[in-house]
Amino acid sequence: MGNVLIVGDLHGNTDHALTVLRVAVRQGCPKVFAVGDFGAWEHMPSGRRYFDVVNRAAKRAGVTVYFLDGNHDKSSLLVEKYGERRDEEGFLVCRKYLRYAPRGHRWEWEGTTFAAFGGARSTDKGWRLARESHREEQAATRRAYGSSRRPLTAGTLWFPEEEMTDDELESLLAQHDSPVDVLLTHDKPRATQPQFNRKNKPECFPNQDRIQRVVEQLRPAVHFHGHLHFRYSETIAAGPGQWTRVEGLAADPEASHHPAYAVDHSWTVLELPHTTGSALAEPAAG
Ligand SMILES: [Fe+2]
Ligand SMILES: [Fe+2]
Repeated sequence: MGNVLIVGDLHGNTDHALTVLRVAVRQGCPKVFAVGDFGAWEHMPSGRRYFDVVNRAAKRAGVTVYFLDGNHDKSSLLVEKYGERRDEEGFLVCRKYLRYAPRGHRWEWEGTTFAAFGGARSTDKGWRLARESHREEQAATRRAYGSSRRPLTAGTLWFPEEEMTDDELESLLAQHDSPVDVLLTHDKPRATQPQFNRKNKPECFPNQDRIQRVVEQLRPAVHFHGHLHFRYSETIAAGPGQWTRVEGLAADPEASHHPAYAVDHSWTVLELPHTTGSALAEPAAG
């Protein structure tokens, strides 16, 4: 069954997606898992094209691409379109080789247990909403002059479902709260303190607290996330005497502004089986 290439934010960057698929082949990974801000923009023609291109390239590479939702993925549309099309492991089949892990989804590969929790807060929410309303005003002006076009505006740049709510999280945890080996999220847990942190802002803390709650409930041995666009590793407490190794992954080159960025900071190989049990008894060295 092979290993999994875990990948940071792609933001719909087709060139980067093709690079990632080549790396997956080179590294002997028949699966790629992207930890959000994948580029789920199927409300736009370009977003549907991106899904088609990734699907075709994945098929050629013999790879299946999985992803969870970031703040810049329209997850409500994924659930609407593909909620009834699930594979045998419960993933939503967006394309044959492109599958979505909805929030709270759990599965097992090679005896290793996984859970995915998407969502995060957009710090540029105000800018996105302002742009949507500017487009709506422009469309209204055109209509006043006789245009019959009704372009999509609301819900095209900012998605109200972007972060988990407390109720959503509690209901997901009420369904399943047992430990997992590997946790995949878009947002960071509150406790990590990376050197470079674009999201160290009060409006981001509630969702980071929710992810921290997930870590402490599921006590994974390892936790991968994106959203910061920065590669770091840190070990944090997941409970009394239990530790989780957190791996933050960088993004595609277009979205990476840190001077020390290298493209291979945006992926890492997870070898399977990864059965260290749940949280580690001791912090990993290094
Ligand atoms: Fe991102
Ligand atoms: Fe993000």
